[in-house]
Amino acid sequence: MSRRQRPSSPPRGAPNPTNGPRFRAPIAGDEISRLLPEGSPALLQALGIIGRDGNANADANRKIKQVSHLLRLIQPALDDAFARHPEPVLVDFGAGRSALSLVVAHAWAERHGRGRVYAVESRAELMQKASTAAAQCGLSRFEPVADTILDATIPERAHFVLALHACDVATDHALLRALRSGADHIALVPCCQAEVARMLQVVPAQAGLHELWSRPWHRREFGAHLTNVLRALVLQAQGYQVTVTELTGWEHAIKNELIIGRRVARFHRGAQSELRALLATIPVRPWLLQQLGWFDESAEPASDESPNPDEGQGGGPLDAAD
Ligand SMILES: C[S@@+](CC[C@H](N)C(=O)[O-])C[C@H]1O[C@@H](n2cnc3c(N)ncnc32)[C@H](O)[C@@H]1O
Repeated sequence: MSRRQRPSSPPRGAPNPTNGPRFRAPIAGDEISRLLPEGSPALLQALGIIGRDGNANADANRKIKQVSHLLRLIQPALDDAFARHPEPVLVDFGAGRSALSLVVAHAWAERHGRGRVYAVESRAELMQKASTAAAQCGLSRFEPVADTILDATIPERAHFVLALHACDVATDHALLRALRSGADHIALVPCCQAEVARMLQVVPAQAGLHELWSRPWHRREFGAHLTNVLRALVLQAQGYQVTVTELTGWEHAIKNELIIGRRVARFHRGAQSELRALLATIPVRPWLLQQLGWFDESAEPASDESPNPDEGQGGGPLDAAD
């Protein structure tokens, strides 16, 4: 598909919600202080996202607002991880410059004096900069890991997994690692999704459904939507209570769907059936589902596959949910 066809590149002259004057604007230091946990602007300054004068340009404005919104939405889950576990392990997959993980390390792990935040990013130079920023600001609980999501060496048990705009299947890599580590909480903001759209291209025409993806633009949009529906259902089938919501107003980011999962059971038979039915109706075979055994002959792929997680204080036994 050509660049011009992508929804993220509106045609010249069309309104682009992320380009409005408000969001082209820089952001002043006092507003940044209102948006972020106390003390964290210094981290973004060390990263170069906020300038020496304490203000930030338009791009940084968007990033700061994304981080601020996300923190507000996941704060109860972060607090829960710290309430349940004496040494919570938090992992940010596809961390990029690590703005989010550094703020979480500062405002949760350092403040509580326990736990560790792992930032996993394949670009070693970004991890080097994040490491320097952490050292400059005196963070001792931030662990940069320059590696791919699938290969990164991190503790086997992660309590909280984040992936903010990890590209395409990188979100699925993060989700798989989160599920395999029995994470209590998972928060995903998916990025571009192309894998399922490619698969839809060869799904045979079906009466009443095929028009949903017969045109390239619709295939891309529907493929992305289906990908996230499948991710949410996988989480639910594995015993997570799932909330799907918008991360920020559309004016801050086009990639804007936030999928939050909280582990409440070992599996969910109803969601397993729904997932099976959906795959029977639209026969795509995404990588994530292949890894989880959904296309294996043995019938119950999602049931209680995760390791037996230490439930920590306050965690009761996990049963199947209906
Ligand atoms: C769009 S950026 C988002 C960065 C950050 N999470 C944020 O929201 O600012 C995606 C990042 O994921 C990293 N990435 C993509 N695939 C990856 C993989 N398989 N393993 C590790 N990092 C990956 C890229 O290098 C990039 O820095």
